[in-house]
Amino acid sequence: MIIINSILTSFLETRSNTEEICAPLQIEDYVIQPIVDVSPPKWHLGHTTWFFEEFILSKYVSGYKRFHPEYAFVFNSYYESVGKRVVRTNRGNLSRPTVSEVYEYRDYVTSHVQAFLEENDNDTITQLIEIGIHHEKQHQELLLTDIKFILGNNPLLPKYNETFTENIVSEERLEYIVMDEGIYDIGYQGDGFCYDNELGRHKVLLQEYAICNKMVTNKEYLDFIIDGGYQDSLLWHAEAWDWIQNENIHAPLYWHKIDGVYNQYTLQGLKDLNLSAPVTHISYYEAFAFSQWKGERLPTEFEWEAAQSLFKWGSRWEWTESAYLPYPNYSKAPGALGEYNGKFMVNQKVLRGGSVATSQEHTRPTYRNFFHPHLRWQFTGFRLVKQK
Ligand SMILES: [Fe+2]
Repeated sequence: MIIINSILTSFLETRSNTEEICAPLQIEDYVIQPIVDVSPPKWHLGHTTWFFEEFILSKYVSGYKRFHPEYAFVFNSYYESVGKRVVRTNRGNLSRPTVSEVYEYRDYVTSHVQAFLEENDNDTITQLIEIGIHHEKQHQELLLTDIKFILGNNPLLPKYNETFTENIVSEERLEYIVMDEGIYDIGYQGDGFCYDNELGRHKVLLQEYAICNKMVTNKEYLDFIIDGGYQDSLLWHAEAWDWIQNENIHAPLYWHKIDGVYNQYTLQGLKDLNLSAPVTHISYYEAFAFSQWKGERLPTEFEWEAAQSLFKWGSRWEWTESAYLPYPNYSKAPGALGEYNGKFMVNQKVLRGGSVATSQEHTRPTYRNFFHPHLRWQFTGFRLVKQK
């Protein structure tokens, strides 16, 4: 019963935290999708609700009546085995269901899950609800970064929240931590929750390397810009060079040059560039080009994990040089939930760490995030490695 109570508490807190993230929004903010990667907040609210309805209530509650027969079509994200859905590019084209109808949907599903959980204490149900909770926590991070893009893409540059601190400055002296050549254990070990992509704990041989205890700062990145980093094709991958030309990229996302001086849009509104803070909202392409300019390189995800207990992390997702691949003995969950991670293991780079938007429960040493190399609307940064 203790387990049920703690799962129920966690479930209710998570549902309410999602809604708290949306509390500063105006109705119009909930609906738009300025780029394909950024989903409307209304969609996140509905999708995280659909997840519980689809994978738990409709399967395990006898006689469960869905809130609306078409909502699975509207709020399914990418689960091919579950059914057809609104294509991703159209999420921002839907004026209905309304925001208030989506909140009613949330209340309906939350109360049904609560009632169901209070009457059922088997492991299958609690594990599924746990996945639903963690899924919603992942969406809370996306929700916040999507809100930042929606507001930061608006010429009025509206503030989201006066107290949200994005820039966490490390006062430590910069040093490189030498890691001996050796065989290191990689992957999750323990009794807590983790995703399938962290499992398959295995051994990796690493050469000697030295990893920086601090992340690259805005000041260092500004030096790269001033030194012509964005104009030197020799620093860039071929597809990255095409990308900066085609997209007219010459600074991190949210940097605004006003009267010759860079400012940064933050969730607190437009601010002076904080030179001591870790650079953020950059692509893998840019992190790599900077490393070339500096004569160093990005860590692999294994180097990062082997050394992570020796430096502070957690304010930025950190790009690594590693492709997102399955660990040895990786096995995905049966059925539709097997679509959660495995099918994305192609053409993406691994990020490690966590960010100011990441749930503390997801800020663990083995957590593997992944994005395509040109994306930068998450709170992404990087640290460097020197080969010894
Ligand atoms: Fe999702």
